[in-house]
Amino acid sequence: MPQLIAGNWKMFGRLAEVAPYAAALRAGAPAHVELLVCPPFTLLDRFAAALAGGPARLGGQDCHPAPEGPHTGDIAAPMLAEAGARYVILGHSERRANHGETNAIVHAKAQAAIAAGLIPIVCVGETEDEREAGEAEAVVRGQLMHSLPPGFAGVVAYEPVWAIGTGRTPTEADVTAMHAAIRAALRAQLGASGAGLRILYGGSVKPGNAASLLALPEVGGALVGGASLKAEDFLAIARAAPRG
Ligand code: 13P
Repeated sequence: MPQLIAGNWKMFGRLAEVAPYAAALRAGAPAHVELLVCPPFTLLDRFAAALAGGPARLGGQDCHPAPEGPHTGDIAAPMLAEAGARYVILGHSERRANHGETNAIVHAKAQAAIAAGLIPIVCVGETEDEREAGEAEAVVRGQLMHSLPPGFAGVVAYEPVWAIGTGRTPTEADVTAMHAAIRAALRAQLGASGAGLRILYGGSVKPGNAASLLALPEVGGALVGGASLKAEDFLAIARAAPRG
């Protein structure tokens, strides 16, 4: 399976950026990876048109557990699908921290995403205190256990909270150990299908560190925040992915 290089634009990005960004991806996307752009909801429709037939897919950054309803400010999975999204990021640490998202909520959102035909990217990751207390793997195992619905057929993104937007990354040994632990947990939870799911690394992935991070065992791609906002950097990260 090709590596998945996913850009999470978070709450950045304006309409004027869409056309040049999409043109740069069309011109420079390497063929050996799957590229994914997850812009703010307001840009999805414009991106869908700009990327149609091109090398990158589109994703949302969140969805509500219900297919529709009186939920001011929320977005439903079928709406994302209709706007052209194939994927949706769920349970990002910024949503868990800023919007009180629990594992149970993420679980319900993942079910809604799958029901709408979207591929969920479920984020997990420990805080710095949890890592220092030696609890990183236990925390992540707990998040997987309670966030992934039965038969989960999506993507897991390991994003240590302390590595997001800080320029700091775990050591290669720590990434390797955590991805092995996640793989073991997926196998235990999901059986044979857990062996094939992609596990992304996220947290301060940049052109300069992408090659070494993406070459680690059980790393199936990257979830990129800040560096995904510049097409040039995002493409440099994609080019750094090993050929699967
Ligand atoms: P940065 O790449 O900016 O550290 O963000 C990572 C992230 O949160 C992607 O979802």
